[in-house]
Amino acid sequence: MIRGLIATGATDGGPLVAVAELPEPTAAADEAVVAVEASSVNHGEVEWLTQAAPGWRPGWDVAGRVLRAAQDGSGPPAGTRVAGFLPQAAWAERTLVPGLRLGALPEELPAATAAAIPVAGLTALRALREAGALRAGSRVLVTGAAGAIGRIAVQLAARAGAEVTALVRAGGHAEALTALGAAAVVEGTGALDGSFDAILDGVAGPVLGACLPAVAPGGSVVLYGDASHEPTTFASGELFLTAPGARICALRMDASPPQDGFAADLSELAALVRDGVLDVEAADPVDWREAGDAIAASRSRRPARKPVLVWS
Ligand SMILES: NC(=O)c1ccc[n+]([C@@H]2O[C@H](COP(=O)([O-])OP(=O)(O)OC[C@H]3O[C@@H](n4cnc5c(N)ncnc54)[C@H](OP(=O)(O)O)[C@@H]3O)[C@@H](O)[C@H]2O)c1
Repeated sequence: MIRGLIATGATDGGPLVAVAELPEPTAAADEAVVAVEASSVNHGEVEWLTQAAPGWRPGWDVAGRVLRAAQDGSGPPAGTRVAGFLPQAAWAERTLVPGLRLGALPEELPAATAAAIPVAGLTALRALREAGALRAGSRVLVTGAAGAIGRIAVQLAARAGAEVTALVRAGGHAEALTALGAAAVVEGTGALDGSFDAILDGVAGPVLGACLPAVAPGGSVVLYGDASHEPTTFASGELFLTAPGARICALRMDASPPQDGFAADLSELAALVRDGVLDVEAADPVDWREAGDAIAASRSRRPARKPVLVWS
């Protein structure tokens, strides 16, 4: 048996997770068994938890060590320090990860930092890549720029030489986002100016509706989230006049096949974090048995940094 966290299904404001004894995971040929050292708490997965059936196994991000390598030879060998991501079940002391979804970690990178990399880092990196935004001089607009994915996207785009506009809904983020590389920090869509070769959106709703007309001809809009939970309307009749050749693309990490190069991307992101050029903003880790507090903090958006659970 292993220890892990399961959804309670609570809808009355009670704890969303409970400690459980779970069956030892049995790996398919393409899966490695990972001894989990740390997992992070993403805002999106906490939202999933609020709607989950009792017994559902939460957890997207994992950092730890390969206990048993995938039998088909995919993925790193036993003993390798790794980070990976899953659609569920990472909040446990051992978990199964497709070998191709595991990236090797530098030995010196703490698991509690590495655990904040996978979903947020991969989403930001791949959204920027999809938008063709990782190039010098590209004009990039990042909505929800104060969020976890937004802040990573700002850093990666700025590092590539793009001119990044960070869109936030409220004040108080300008100094931090400028330090992360944003050329401009804009509060609210009313203050947007100019056009953009790439727009990354994790907010949707009226924010996206207001940003879409700002895409440049031939530009790209990559949609990866809907933090506002609101529908989007926009004047498509104007868009094809002002931005011929522009495209809108939806990106969903858990729908990407494992052979999609995750291992290389995870290792690349981990190296950037180790080298101090990318901050994934992991909070001080807490024991996994204190997950309730970390979840509550994530829901109330109190932590500026991403909560991390450590397994011991
Ligand atoms: N496509 C994928 O594969 C994938 C993977 C992971 C996550 N996601 C999704 O991506 C989105 C962002 O994730 P995250 O981890 O970065 O979340 P996060 O840290 O909670 O960031 C969300 C950001 O959106 C902003 N926001 C929320 N509602 C808003 C509104 N009504 N108007 C303006 N701004 C608003 C927040 O602003 P404040 O800072 O002011 O609160 C925050 O900066 C979520 O929808 C998540 O489910 C998608």
